[in-house]
Amino acid sequence: MYSSRLIESASGAQKFQLQCKGLNGLGPEWVPLQQDWSNRWCTLTERFTEEFVKRIHDFKTRSSDVFVVTFIKSGTTWMQELAWLLLNQIDLNGARNSDLLQRSPFLEESGLHPVALDSIATCDKIQSNPRLIKSHLPAQLLPQEIWTQDRKVIYVARNPRDVVVSTFHYFTGLKISNCSLDDFVDYFIADKVVFTTYWTHVIDFYRMRNEENVFFVTYEEMKRDLENVVRRLSRFLGCQQLSDSEMEKLVNHLSFKNMKGSNFVNYTALQEYTNLNDNFQFMRRGIVGSYKDELSSDSQNKINKWTESFLQEYGIAESDIFGHL
Ligand code: A3P
Repeated sequence: MYSSRLIESASGAQKFQLQCKGLNGLGPEWVPLQQDWSNRWCTLTERFTEEFVKRIHDFKTRSSDVFVVTFIKSGTTWMQELAWLLLNQIDLNGARNSDLLQRSPFLEESGLHPVALDSIATCDKIQSNPRLIKSHLPAQLLPQEIWTQDRKVIYVARNPRDVVVSTFHYFTGLKISNCSLDDFVDYFIADKVVFTTYWTHVIDFYRMRNEENVFFVTYEEMKRDLENVVRRLSRFLGCQQLSDSEMEKLVNHLSFKNMKGSNFVNYTALQEYTNLNDNFQFMRRGIVGSYKDELSSDSQNKINKWTESFLQEYGIAESDIFGHL
């Protein structure tokens, strides 16, 4: 079912790309998308052993589970905090006093870097109900039961230019990468950065946005009208609609300034990242369009061309997904 191939990554370290197909070569038939999956490769680290991938595939879900799925640096943390609060009766005190990663663990974290406890086992053992589980995996590599049992998935997409810029700063801050931003763009487009290919990740969820168990939203929409996203998400999760005062408190809590100031959601001080660049900031700018004053016009043009050529096959314009940036 899985095939893999070795590649050289942006950091020069060996990574591999993983592909998942159904038995008939087309599939995987459990994902609600009928398509040829032969171009769906996902770049991962060598820690993603066959056994690890299979454990994720076979991960036992529960009917109340909610998954937050994103391509990296797309507003995952922001959405996790929002979804956790909606699922926990806007327990702002709880959110202010415990690590988000404990309230909403990261399914494949052990596949990225060593963590004290096996992340799949951690997710398996969560006592709280409902569970809110984070993942950056593309649709075809997620636990199969998400699709066969219609588990709720919240998907956040963010425009590729801001994702590249944010990922570049993140990886540079973590000393995973030390190249220039222009070089990083080349690696990103060539699928040499972990979790790429970016576009197949986003487009597959965009095309599933009307599935009953999928809530599709963009970072850009969250920035434009967070209250409306809160209302939509609240309906999707089957939560009670909020009073005006609850909404006001929630939106204030979710502001960039407030989240940046909290060590429970701002991972800048995370202990597991011991070898950080001095100027590392997890909560960096928190805006739409940081690429405009950070990416060279050459890199912007490369991303535009790559995007247009990818989306052509689907008859979709980038602005259909993200609006005009
Ligand atoms: P920037 O690097 O562009 O600032 P993820 O959680 O998926 O890793 O995404 C991180 C990105 O989301 C960072 O983007 C971070 O600043 C931004 N972010 C986190 N919380 C936010 C908030 N409350 N409002 C706006 N952006 C936020």
